[in-house]
Amino acid sequence: MSTPIIRVRDMAFPRFQVPDLDQMEAFLTAFGMQRSTRTADALYMRGSDGQHHVHVSHLGPAAFVGLSFWATSHDDLETLARGTRTRVEPTNEPGGGAVVHLRDPDGRRIDVVHGLAELETLPLRSHPALNTGVERPRIGTLQRVASGPAQVKRCGHAAIKTTDLATLSRWYGETLGMLVSDDIYMEGPDKPMGRFVRCDRGSEPADHHTLLLLETPEVKLGHVAYEVADFDDLMVGHDHLQANGHGGRPYWGIGRHILGGQIFDYWKDPFGFTIEHWTDSDLLRADTAPGAHHILNALSQWGPMPPPDLDF
Ligand SMILES: [Fe+2]
Repeated sequence: MSTPIIRVRDMAFPRFQVPDLDQMEAFLTAFGMQRSTRTADALYMRGSDGQHHVHVSHLGPAAFVGLSFWATSHDDLETLARGTRTRVEPTNEPGGGAVVHLRDPDGRRIDVVHGLAELETLPLRSHPALNTGVERPRIGTLQRVASGPAQVKRCGHAAIKTTDLATLSRWYGETLGMLVSDDIYMEGPDKPMGRFVRCDRGSEPADHHTLLLLETPEVKLGHVAYEVADFDDLMVGHDHLQANGHGGRPYWGIGRHILGGQIFDYWKDPFGFTIEHWTDSDLLRADTAPGAHHILNALSQWGPMPPPDLDF
């Protein structure tokens, strides 16, 4: 592969349009985020990490607007702007910072950002050690899990549906430096129907996937996904959402994926967008070679089968 224009560091946040910001805020709060900023026509929600926001909603008819990624430096934004014949601009949004606005080959809005305000991190409740059949290190400490919303740390990845996987995958590789982690196929490895790609952080580990690109008959969002504190946190978060969903509903889970290895729990938000809690992802360095797997060997290690409408 040719040298990419830049190598983004991570997914930053998705951007949606929804007709009711109050309902979105109530759902996302029950999902485990907290309000960062609210304006007359937009809602910015944060996780426990220091990023100013991890989810953006604008007031309007329900729509998925686009994805944002973190650049490693302001210089990288300048390099990206030169390489794509665009400009580095102020975000003109809460949190400040700078942005390069791009469109991927599907026409999806892709923003690459840097320099947004850092917030104080919020403490995560610590989790006592697990006693297993092999090791029982927790002695005299009682395992007690506080109920309530999950503790969302950060936005981790998105799945996007495309009609042209090869073209989309090439663009994310050449423009944002994404590396192929694993392909999934039905007929044969030379005809992938899906591709998991991750950020290239060199010798520093990155989540197994930052994007899942899926070839389908339509261009649309699959889902956006948020890292939570741990497995118990995901489970109590599920119970909390069941009781306080504000129009959201459980969609698929709870299970453990094969590719990426995460424990997952997918929900529909009140406006029909798929949003995932996950924890315990596989981490890879840049030197891990791509894999290819038949779809039937690529879904879950345990947990329910996916819903028949495959809207994730
Ligand atoms: Fe996911």
